[in-house]
Amino acid sequence: MSLTRRDRLQALGLWPAWRLRVAAPAIEAEREAEHEAEPFQAAALAAELLEKPATSSPDAVERNPGIAMGEIPDSAHGSIQATSPPNAIREMDWTALNAAIKSCTRCALAKTRTQAVPGVGDIHAEWLFVGEAPGANEDRQGEPFVGDAGKLLDAMMAAIGLARGNNVYIANVLKSRPPGNRDPLPEEVATCLPYLERQIELIQPKLIVALGRFAAQNLLATDTPIGKLRGQMHRYRGVPLVVTYHPAYLLRNPLDKAKVWEDLLLAVDTMRQQKSNAG
Ligand code: URA
Repeated sequence: MSLTRRDRLQALGLWPAWRLRVAAPAIEAEREAEHEAEPFQAAALAAELLEKPATSSPDAVERNPGIAMGEIPDSAHGSIQATSPPNAIREMDWTALNAAIKSCTRCALAKTRTQAVPGVGDIHAEWLFVGEAPGANEDRQGEPFVGDAGKLLDAMMAAIGLARGNNVYIANVLKSRPPGNRDPLPEEVATCLPYLERQIELIQPKLIVALGRFAAQNLLATDTPIGKLRGQMHRYRGVPLVVTYHPAYLLRNPLDKAKVWEDLLLAVDTMRQQKSNAG
């Protein structure tokens, strides 16, 4: 795979915003460089990383049964308590977990949401992207990151050769929308986090990408600012975790997309190391 610098930046939605940042002579140099079709090592690497064993071909990929393949069977609903305590959550399989999330009334957000949003994608994914909470579009459609921020997330993933549902799972810390998109409350996080924890246990991803301060701080149990968290590899219960800016933040601050590109390269490199360590 051979992409120009411009291709890469466009995939991230960085072009032409990036041009505004650089001085005119640098733009000229970039224009010349564009025509050289330099090898895009990260994309080639990502394509390599995407190659999963034959058993995980698209046909064999088992989808999140609660979202991608339709509704939870009625029988599952019948056996789930709406207020499943954390201990029970830790024992759940995918069917029970999705049903528990969808019928959850463990916090007041249940009263204002249209529907809970468990997550979407390949339940055997190597890549897990974690956001904050469903917004209005997600609340309506029942799938994470389907609005403008979601389109940018798709572009971010495409920039490293990934696509929604293909070796990728996307989830949020909160499964229900906070009204008016207000910040989640600490008690809402405490109540909802066991669902994400169980999702991570079931998926066993090779790498987690935390999208934004909220996901990063809650997964890493820290109040360190995002500017200090990004740029290095962390671990969540042994799983490598890379922090980057939330796509919604990037929509408001497009010049920071260059930093996201660096974070994504760190993620790709971390995944490559994970795979080479696994032999
Ligand atoms: N923002 C998030 O953090 N998650 C979504 O699903 C949508 C927007």
